[in-house]
Amino acid sequence: ERVIRENWGTRVGFILAAIGSAVGLGNIWRFPAVAYENGGGAFLVPYLVALVTAGIPLLIMEFTIGRRFKGSAPVAMRRLNKNAEFIGWWQVAISIVISVYYAVIIAWAAMYTIYSIGQTWGDAPDSFLFVDFLGAVNTDGTNVGTFEFGEWLPNLLLVLIAVWLVTLFVIGAGIRKGIENSAKIFIPLLVVMFGVLVVQALTLDGATAGLDAFFTPDWEALKDSGVWVAAYGQIFFSLSVGFGIMVTYASYLKRKSDITTSAFTVGFANSSFEVLAGFGVFSALGFMALQAGTPIDEQVTDGVGLAFVAFPTIVNTLPYAAGLFGVLFFASLTIAGFTSLISIIQVPVAAVEDRFGINRLKGTIFVGGGIALVSIILFPATNGLWLLDTADGFINRYGITVAALVSIVSVVWIAWKWGELRTDANRTSTYKVGFVWLACLGVITPVILGWMLVDNIRTTIENEAGVDRATLIYGWCVAGGALAFGILMALILRRKDVPELVDEAEV
Ligand code: PHE
Ligand code: NA
Repeated sequence: ERVIRENWGTRVGFILAAIGSAVGLGNIWRFPAVAYENGGGAFLVPYLVALVTAGIPLLIMEFTIGRRFKGSAPVAMRRLNKNAEFIGWWQVAISIVISVYYAVIIAWAAMYTIYSIGQTWGDAPDSFLFVDFLGAVNTDGTNVGTFEFGEWLPNLLLVLIAVWLVTLFVIGAGIRKGIENSAKIFIPLLVVMFGVLVVQALTLDGATAGLDAFFTPDWEALKDSGVWVAAYGQIFFSLSVGFGIMVTYASYLKRKSDITTSAFTVGFANSSFEVLAGFGVFSALGFMALQAGTPIDEQVTDGVGLAFVAFPTIVNTLPYAAGLFGVLFFASLTIAGFTSLISIIQVPVAAVEDRFGINRLKGTIFVGGGIALVSIILFPATNGLWLLDTADGFINRYGITVAALVSIVSVVWIAWKWGELRTDANRTSTYKVGFVWLACLGVITPVILGWMLVDNIRTTIENEAGVDRATLIYGWCVAGGALAFGILMALILRRKDVPELVDEAEV
């Protein structure tokens, strides 16, 4: 069995695709609020420390593993060590979980792009979102039950189907024609659109006050360990490291590609986009606070509340070009999310292709299509928001962090591969890595990840009181099920050899 694998067309293409994965919803709707709540301007210190001591070293590790072992996550891990295959499948499961709900948020953003034109949300964006649009809250204010598969939301269903069709089309078109070309179009487009949005936001009344609130450093915050945990957490999520994406993307690199410069470029590009989003979001929140006559503090939210309640409210009161502002914001969200979705879905699709030697078309249709079907059946209903919310919480707290911890400890300490990886990375890279890289990757990052895990368990226990039992069980099943899936797949495939995978560039 001989399977030919594609290669990226150009180095820039690979870097843009990796940036496309990294720059996602997290940059726009998560970073600004996390930074604000954790010391404002002072947050930039732990944030940059986290980027340099954990984000980039891990990115270098994942790029090197992908390029050296030339396979998507399970194959690369198996080639690294026969007992490590389960980590790759665990990452595949995490990617599947994330993709099924990430696509839904992209569908919301796509619909809100159109709603922006006529400000369809009316003067109460809050109840429009939860009651009219999502049907997640009853008119009396109570939440629809997590498992109350109430009614379908037909419009959302259609848009979600469209999101999946476009995604599968890109994946099916392949690495160069699909992923690389779409990154070459969408990343510049995103930067331009978001740039225009930020400029408009900076011109609003109250923008300066917003930026003041955002950047005023609270140096005391640096003494709080929670702030450091938040910084590292933001970096892991934001760089898409820890769940096989970057291993998969790097597996399509040619053997002579530079590793470290690419990792620095992707890391700093992603962080620059986050800071840019901080400018945009806080200018807009400053404007909103001025309009409402309330302190900025009361306006700061993240996630769904920021994007789908605060921004529509801002659009409602803009002095000029309101529709344009809304379109730019939601189209940015849609595009940023879309290029990330492509990268997550490539993880399971490529895993099955490489491991079972099936071609891209079959992989796309059966694996990608299967995942799309689950997403389409589960989420466009009135309980979709709550299903999504719980899955997101648990997979972030107990999927990404734990898988990252296990993979680093396995690679560096148990399989003792750091020396081999270092040599391989340095062979083709302008900037060489050495002892500092090892210290960051092998010591600092695992210690912080372990600390984060303890911290997450503490938060879950604290929150448990307010969450019903069925929802909790579901959350643990999602997180635990991903690991169980990994172990099961590795056991089943233990005696099955990986097909011969050959780089197209080497044929
Ligand atoms: N890095 C992405 C972001 O910042 C998040 C992401 C998560 C991307 C999972 C892909 C997969 O939004
Ligand atoms: Na990001």
